[in-house]
Amino acid sequence: MSKPDVLAVAKLHPFFRQALDKFYTVHDRTHQLDPVAFDALAPRIVAVAATGESSVPRALIERLDAARIVSVFGVGYDGVDAAAALERGIPVTHTPGVLNDDVADMAMALVLGIARRVAEGDRYVRDGRWPEGPLTLGRKVSGARMGIVGMGRIGQAIAQRAAAFGMTIAYTARSAKPALPHAFVPDATTLAGQSDFLVAITPGGAGTRHLINAGVLAALGPRGFLINVARGSVVDEAALIEALRAGTIAGAGLDVFANEPQVPEALRQLPNVLLSPHTASATAETRQAMADLAFANLHAGVQGQPLVTPVPEWTAVHGKQPRSA
Ligand code: 8YV
Repeated sequence: MSKPDVLAVAKLHPFFRQALDKFYTVHDRTHQLDPVAFDALAPRIVAVAATGESSVPRALIERLDAARIVSVFGVGYDGVDAAAALERGIPVTHTPGVLNDDVADMAMALVLGIARRVAEGDRYVRDGRWPEGPLTLGRKVSGARMGIVGMGRIGQAIAQRAAAFGMTIAYTARSAKPALPHAFVPDATTLAGQSDFLVAITPGGAGTRHLINAGVLAALGPRGFLINVARGSVVDEAALIEALRAGTIAGAGLDVFANEPQVPEALRQLPNVLLSPHTASATAETRQAMADLAFANLHAGVQGQPLVTPVPEWTAVHGKQPRSA
Protein backbone atom coordinates (compact mmCIF):
# COMPACT_ATOMS: atom_id res chain seq x y z
CA MET A 1 0.00 0.00 0.00
CA SER A 2 1.39 3.39 -0.90
CA LYS A 3 2.16 5.82 1.88
CA PRO A 4 0.27 9.12 2.23
CA ASP A 5 1.84 12.10 0.46
CA VAL A 6 3.55 14.94 2.32
CA LEU A 7 4.81 18.11 0.67
CA ALA A 8 8.12 19.41 2.07
CA VAL A 9 8.15 23.11 1.20
CA ALA A 10 11.85 23.43 2.09
CA LYS A 11 14.82 21.11 2.32
CA LEU A 12 14.08 19.38 5.62
CA HIS A 13 16.54 18.68 8.38
CA PRO A 14 17.59 14.98 8.13
CA PHE A 15 16.18 14.17 11.61
CA PHE A 16 12.73 15.38 10.54
CA ARG A 17 12.97 13.87 7.06
CA GLN A 18 14.00 10.42 8.35
CA ALA A 19 11.07 10.30 10.77
CA LEU A 20 8.67 11.24 7.97
CA ASP A 21 10.09 8.76 5.46
CA LYS A 22 8.98 5.82 7.62
CA PHE A 23 5.30 6.68 7.26
CA TYR A 24 4.98 9.03 4.30
CA THR A 25 6.08 9.65 0.76
CA VAL A 26 7.83 13.00 1.04
CA HIS A 27 7.75 15.23 -2.03
CA ASP A 28 10.67 17.60 -1.76
CA ARG A 29 9.65 21.07 -2.99
CA THR A 30 7.69 19.61 -5.92
CA HIS A 31 5.50 22.74 -5.99
CA GLN A 32 8.59 24.74 -6.97
CA LEU A 33 10.76 22.19 -8.75
CA ASP A 34 8.12 20.43 -10.89
CA PRO A 35 4.91 22.48 -11.10
CA VAL A 36 3.42 20.18 -13.77
CA ALA A 37 3.78 17.09 -11.55
CA PHE A 38 2.47 19.14 -8.64
CA ASP A 39 -0.84 19.74 -10.47
CA ALA A 40 -1.62 16.03 -10.11
CA LEU A 41 -0.06 15.71 -6.67
CA ALA A 42 -1.60 18.70 -4.88
CA PRO A 43 -5.05 17.17 -4.20
CA ARG A 44 -3.39 14.11 -2.58
CA ILE A 45 -1.16 16.02 -0.14
CA VAL A 46 -2.23 15.21 3.43
CA ALA A 47 0.36 17.33 5.21
CA VAL A 48 2.85 20.12 4.65
CA ALA A 49 6.26 19.96 6.34
CA ALA A 50 7.95 23.34 6.64
CA THR A 51 10.85 25.08 8.38
CA GLY A 52 10.92 28.35 10.28
CA GLU A 53 12.08 30.13 7.14
CA SER A 54 9.51 28.55 4.78
CA SER A 55 6.89 30.30 2.76
CA VAL A 56 3.44 28.69 2.76
CA PRO A 57 1.26 31.30 1.07
CA ARG A 58 -2.51 31.37 0.69
CA ALA A 59 -2.21 30.40 -3.00
CA LEU A 60 -0.52 27.12 -2.03
CA ILE A 61 -2.85 26.38 0.89
CA GLU A 62 -5.88 26.82 -1.38
CA ARG A 63 -4.65 24.03 -3.66
CA LEU A 64 -4.33 21.46 -0.87
CA ASP A 65 -7.85 20.09 -0.53
CA ALA A 66 -6.81 16.99 1.44
CA ALA A 67 -4.31 18.72 3.76
CA ARG A 68 -4.85 18.04 7.44
CA ILE A 69 -1.85 19.89 8.89
CA VAL A 70 1.00 22.33 8.24
CA SER A 71 3.83 21.34 10.61
CA VAL A 72 6.64 23.87 11.02
CA PHE A 73 10.07 22.71 12.22
CA GLY A 74 10.77 25.96 14.07
CA VAL A 75 9.09 28.29 16.51
CA GLY A 76 8.66 31.12 14.00
CA TYR A 77 5.99 30.62 11.36
CA ASP A 78 5.79 34.09 9.87
CA GLY A 79 6.14 32.64 6.35
CA VAL A 80 2.95 30.59 6.78
CA ASP A 81 -0.36 32.26 6.04
CA ALA A 82 -1.93 30.96 9.26
CA ALA A 83 -5.15 32.92 8.62
CA ALA A 84 -5.61 31.22 5.24
CA ALA A 85 -4.98 27.80 6.82
CA LEU A 86 -7.40 28.54 9.65
CA GLU A 87 -10.11 29.59 7.17
CA ARG A 88 -9.82 26.22 5.47
CA GLY A 89 -9.77 24.32 8.76
CA ILE A 90 -6.12 23.30 8.41
CA PRO A 91 -4.16 23.48 11.67
CA VAL A 92 -0.65 24.96 11.76
CA THR A 93 1.81 23.70 14.38
CA HIS A 94 5.29 24.85 15.39
CA THR A 95 8.04 23.86 17.87
CA PRO A 96 8.00 26.29 20.79
CA GLY A 97 9.88 25.64 24.02
CA VAL A 98 12.47 23.14 22.88
CA LEU A 99 14.78 25.75 21.36
CA ASN A 100 14.61 28.50 24.00
CA ASP A 101 17.93 27.61 25.59
CA ASP A 102 19.86 27.37 22.35
CA VAL A 103 18.57 30.63 20.91
CA ALA A 104 19.23 32.43 24.20
CA ASP A 105 22.72 30.92 24.33
CA MET A 106 23.36 32.17 20.81
CA ALA A 107 22.14 35.67 21.68
CA MET A 108 24.70 35.76 24.49
CA ALA A 109 27.37 34.30 22.19
CA LEU A 110 26.75 37.18 19.77
CA VAL A 111 26.78 39.75 22.59
CA LEU A 112 30.07 38.43 23.92
CA GLY A 113 31.50 37.70 20.50
CA ILE A 114 31.02 41.18 19.07
CA ALA A 115 31.84 43.08 22.27
CA ARG A 116 34.93 41.04 23.14
CA ARG A 117 36.09 40.75 19.50
CA VAL A 118 36.16 36.93 19.64
CA ALA A 119 36.08 36.24 15.88
CA GLU A 120 38.37 39.21 15.23
CA GLY A 121 40.89 37.91 17.79
CA ASP A 122 40.77 34.46 16.22
CA ARG A 123 41.55 35.94 12.79
CA TYR A 124 44.28 38.11 14.31
CA VAL A 125 46.11 35.12 15.77
CA ARG A 126 45.62 32.93 12.68
CA ASP A 127 46.85 35.67 10.36
CA GLY A 128 50.08 35.93 12.40
CA ARG A 129 49.37 39.55 13.34
CA TRP A 130 49.80 39.21 17.13
CA PRO A 131 53.51 40.20 16.98
CA GLU A 132 52.37 43.58 15.56
CA GLY A 133 50.85 44.39 18.95
CA PRO A 134 47.70 43.80 20.96
CA LEU A 135 44.21 43.60 19.50
CA THR A 136 42.08 46.75 19.80
CA LEU A 137 40.31 46.91 23.16
CA GLY A 138 36.85 45.39 23.47
CA ARG A 139 33.80 46.49 25.36
CA LYS A 140 32.82 45.22 28.84
CA VAL A 141 29.67 43.10 28.84
CA SER A 142 29.23 42.32 32.55
CA GLY A 143 27.20 45.05 34.18
CA ALA A 144 26.14 46.64 30.86
CA ARG A 145 22.55 47.53 29.93
CA MET A 146 20.57 45.08 27.79
CA GLY A 147 17.36 46.02 26.00
CA ILE A 148 15.27 43.10 24.76
CA VAL A 149 12.79 43.63 21.94
CA GLY A 150 10.20 40.87 22.46
CA MET A 151 9.76 39.31 25.90
CA GLY A 152 8.30 35.90 25.07
CA ARG A 153 9.76 32.55 26.07
CA ILE A 154 13.11 33.14 24.38
CA GLY A 155 13.34 36.78 25.48
CA GLN A 156 12.93 35.62 29.07
CA ALA A 157 15.64 32.97 28.61
CA ILE A 158 17.97 35.69 27.32
CA ALA A 159 17.11 37.90 30.30
CA GLN A 160 18.00 35.06 32.70
CA ARG A 161 21.41 34.73 31.11
CA ALA A 162 22.00 38.49 31.00
CA ALA A 163 21.07 38.70 34.69
CA ALA A 164 23.83 36.18 35.44
CA PHE A 165 26.22 38.65 33.77
CA GLY A 166 25.04 41.37 36.14
CA MET A 167 23.38 43.24 33.29
CA THR A 168 20.53 45.70 33.78
CA ILE A 169 17.59 44.46 31.74
CA ALA A 170 14.71 46.38 30.18
CA TYR A 171 12.36 45.26 27.42
CA THR A 172 9.69 46.30 25.03
CA ALA A 173 6.82 44.06 23.95
CA ARG A 174 3.18 44.41 22.87
CA SER A 175 2.24 44.62 26.52
CA ALA A 176 4.01 44.82 29.88
CA LYS A 177 4.53 41.58 31.80
CA PRO A 178 4.07 42.67 35.41
CA ALA A 179 5.24 39.30 36.76
CA LEU A 180 8.74 39.97 35.41
CA PRO A 181 11.27 41.95 37.47
CA HIS A 182 12.48 43.93 34.42
CA ALA A 183 11.53 47.45 33.34
CA PHE A 184 8.97 47.69 30.53
CA VAL A 185 9.57 50.40 27.94
CA PRO A 186 6.71 51.18 25.55
CA ASP A 187 8.70 51.50 22.32
CA ALA A 188 11.91 50.30 20.68
CA THR A 189 13.40 53.77 20.18
CA THR A 190 13.19 54.66 23.88
CA LEU A 191 14.54 51.22 24.79
CA ALA A 192 17.45 51.62 22.35
CA GLY A 193 18.28 54.98 23.92
CA GLN A 194 18.87 53.31 27.26
CA SER A 195 20.64 50.15 26.04
CA ASP A 196 24.24 49.13 25.38
CA PHE A 197 23.05 45.91 23.73
CA LEU A 198 19.70 45.89 21.95
CA VAL A 199 18.59 42.29 21.33
CA ALA A 200 15.80 41.55 18.84
CA ILE A 201 13.83 38.37 19.59
CA THR A 202 10.33 39.23 18.45
CA PRO A 203 8.28 37.20 15.94
CA GLY A 204 8.70 38.19 12.29
CA GLY A 205 5.90 39.09 9.90
CA ALA A 206 4.10 42.23 8.80
CA GLY A 207 3.53 43.51 12.34
CA THR A 208 7.24 43.78 13.16
CA ARG A 209 8.69 44.56 9.72
CA HIS A 210 11.51 47.10 10.07
CA LEU A 211 10.67 47.64 13.74
CA ILE A 212 14.40 48.33 14.12
CA ASN A 213 14.79 51.25 11.71
CA ALA A 214 17.17 54.18 11.26
CA GLY A 215 15.56 56.05 14.15
CA VAL A 216 15.99 53.14 16.57
CA LEU A 217 19.61 52.70 15.48
CA ALA A 218 20.27 56.43 15.95
CA ALA A 219 18.85 56.13 19.48
CA LEU A 220 21.09 53.10 20.18
CA GLY A 221 24.02 55.38 19.42
CA PRO A 222 27.73 55.07 18.68
CA ARG A 223 28.43 52.91 21.75
CA GLY A 224 25.46 50.61 21.23
CA PHE A 225 25.36 47.14 19.66
CA LEU A 226 22.44 45.49 17.87
CA ILE A 227 21.94 41.73 18.21
CA ASN A 228 19.37 40.02 15.95
CA VAL A 229 18.24 36.45 16.67
CA ALA A 230 14.67 37.12 15.51
CA ARG A 231 14.06 37.48 11.79
CA GLY A 232 15.88 39.52 9.18
CA SER A 233 12.63 41.31 8.40
CA VAL A 234 12.58 42.89 11.88
CA VAL A 235 15.58 45.09 10.98
CA ASP A 236 15.80 47.59 8.12
CA GLU A 237 18.99 46.05 6.72
CA ALA A 238 19.86 49.02 4.50
CA ALA A 239 19.57 51.36 7.49
CA LEU A 240 21.68 48.97 9.56
CA ILE A 241 24.46 48.87 6.95
CA GLU A 242 24.41 52.65 6.82
CA ALA A 243 24.55 52.93 10.63
CA LEU A 244 27.45 50.45 10.81
CA ARG A 245 29.33 52.28 8.05
CA ALA A 246 28.78 55.70 9.57
CA GLY A 247 29.52 54.58 13.11
CA THR A 248 26.03 55.62 14.22
CA ILE A 249 26.11 52.34 16.19
CA ALA A 250 29.17 50.47 17.47
CA GLY A 251 28.47 47.09 15.90
CA ALA A 252 26.07 44.23 15.36
CA GLY A 253 25.82 40.48 15.93
CA LEU A 254 23.47 38.93 13.38
CA ASP A 255 22.10 35.41 13.06
CA VAL A 256 19.32 36.33 10.64
CA PHE A 257 19.13 38.37 7.45
CA ALA A 258 16.56 39.92 5.16
CA ASN A 259 17.16 37.60 2.19
CA GLU A 260 18.72 34.39 3.53
CA PRO A 261 20.98 32.75 2.58
CA GLN A 262 22.12 35.85 0.68
CA VAL A 263 23.94 38.37 2.88
CA PRO A 264 24.72 41.74 1.30
CA GLU A 265 28.35 42.21 0.28
CA ALA A 266 28.36 45.51 2.21
CA LEU A 267 27.53 43.67 5.44
CA ARG A 268 30.15 40.98 4.76
CA GLN A 269 32.82 43.63 4.28
CA LEU A 270 32.14 45.59 7.46
CA PRO A 271 34.58 44.95 10.32
CA ASN A 272 32.16 45.76 13.13
CA VAL A 273 29.71 42.90 12.57
CA LEU A 274 29.68 39.29 13.72
CA LEU A 275 27.78 37.11 11.24
CA SER A 276 26.18 33.73 11.83
CA PRO A 277 24.21 31.67 9.23
CA HIS A 278 20.87 31.34 11.10
CA THR A 279 22.20 28.74 13.51
CA ALA A 280 20.68 29.85 16.82
CA SER A 281 18.77 26.57 17.21
CA ALA A 282 21.35 24.46 15.40
CA THR A 283 22.68 22.02 17.98
CA ALA A 284 22.29 18.28 17.56
CA GLU A 285 20.26 18.06 20.77
CA THR A 286 17.81 20.81 19.90
CA ARG A 287 17.40 19.87 16.24
CA GLN A 288 16.50 16.33 17.42
CA ALA A 289 13.93 17.73 19.85
CA MET A 290 12.52 19.99 17.13
CA ALA A 291 12.32 17.06 14.70
CA ASP A 292 10.54 14.89 17.29
CA LEU A 293 8.00 17.64 18.01
CA ALA A 294 7.47 18.59 14.35
CA PHE A 295 6.94 14.92 13.48
CA ALA A 296 4.60 14.31 16.43
CA ASN A 297 2.48 17.28 15.35
CA LEU A 298 2.36 16.23 11.70
CA HIS A 299 1.50 12.62 12.46
CA ALA A 300 -1.18 13.64 14.98
CA GLY A 301 -2.70 16.01 12.44
CA VAL A 302 -2.91 13.36 9.73
CA GLN A 303 -4.29 10.75 12.11
CA GLY A 304 -6.86 13.09 13.61
CA GLN A 305 -5.29 12.94 17.06
CA PRO A 306 -4.92 15.93 19.43
CA LEU A 307 -2.12 18.23 18.29
CA VAL A 308 0.90 18.78 20.53
CA THR A 309 1.80 22.42 19.84
CA PRO A 310 -0.61 24.22 17.50
CA VAL A 311 0.05 27.92 16.85
CA PRO A 312 -1.95 30.42 18.93
CA GLU A 313 -4.24 31.32 16.00
CA TRP A 314 -5.46 27.71 15.92
CA THR A 315 -5.51 27.20 19.69
CA ALA A 316 -7.68 30.30 20.17
CA VAL A 317 -10.46 28.68 18.10
CA HIS A 318 -9.93 24.92 18.35
CA GLY A 319 -7.61 24.29 21.30
CA LYS A 320 -5.52 21.23 20.52
CA GLN A 321 -8.15 19.61 18.35
CA PRO A 322 -7.01 18.48 14.89
CA ARG A 323 -8.89 19.20 11.70
CA SER A 324 -12.40 17.87 11.92
CA ALA A 325 -13.04 15.04 9.48
C1 8YV B 1 14.65 27.53 12.01
C2 8YV B 1 13.95 29.34 13.40
O1 8YV B 1 13.39 27.02 12.04
O2 8YV B 1 12.67 28.32 15.09
C3 8YV B 1 12.76 29.22 14.28
O3 8YV B 1 11.87 30.07 14.14
O4 8YV B 1 14.16 30.31 12.75
C4 8YV B 1 14.92 28.23 13.30
O5 8YV B 1 14.92 27.40 14.38
C5 8YV B 1 15.62 26.47 11.74
O6 8YV B 1 16.73 27.10 11.20
C6 8YV B 1 15.15 25.40 10.80
O7 8YV B 1 15.00 25.85 9.52
